Amino acid sequence: MTLRPDLVPVSPATRVVTCAADEIGEVAADIVATIASDGVLGVATGSSPLALYAALVRRRAEGLRTEGLRLFALDEYVGLSTDDPRSYAAYVRSVIAEPLGIPAENVRVPRGSTDADGAAYERAIAEAGGVDVQVVGIGRNGHIGFNEPGSNAETRTRVVELDESTRRANAEHFDGDLTQVPTHALTQGVATILSARRIVLVAAGSAKAAALRSALAGPVTADNPASFLQRHPDVTVVADPDALRENR
Ligand code: F6R
Repeated sequence: MTLRPDLVPVSPATRVVTCAADEIGEVAADIVATIASDGVLGVATGSSPLALYAALVRRRAEGLRTEGLRLFALDEYVGLSTDDPRSYAAYVRSVIAEPLGIPAENVRVPRGSTDADGAAYERAIAEAGGVDVQVVGIGRNGHIGFNEPGSNAETRTRVVELDESTRRANAEHFDGDLTQVPTHALTQGVATILSARRIVLVAAGSAKAAALRSALAGPVTADNPASFLQRHPDVTVVADPDALRENR
């Protein structure tokens, strides 16, 4: 594991930790563990944070108390029921909440198909006192949450149309059938994500390298919504060498 202060230009408030792909989970878990007993954890779904959640489950078996965490998910597909195994609600339940012993009433996943549903989600986050640590992945096009390119810094939880490239990337969870992948999602906005007190971005693999490079070292622009993370005062990027390849 190496801290990469050599990555320039990058926001001084952003730490970049390079580690082997199989260490990403443990490094990210060190950060989440700081709030494990009673914090508000913002959770991404997808493959990037799986090792983090597995590390937390292992630590719970070793005595880490995680039952007091409150969870807020980043996003959800519009049109899938919460029982659908492909829904993010099902992911959060089966991969994070249940193995960490977090009761269902302390787990929130965006739900609905209107901007009013988004506003209700914003209120729920505010009522919880805001997010202490937000875990994010990054899409190949620079999306965070489902804030696709074009999403600006002021966006809040709302209904969005998914890019075709995002739907293609996620089709593997829908039997490889693009027509089954929902076209819309309810997602926290860029401003919502940036409201978290601390952000941990996890990324592995060369498919993320171009997006991660412009997020860290490129201009702050809605063309790459992850670049808005440069404006946040406390971001840790935990990534393997392949994901950081173009930064060398
Ligand atoms: C998931 C989410 C997305 C993913 C991103 C990367 O809740 O908000 O932004 O983090 O699409 O997905 P993976 O990790 O599957 O490559």
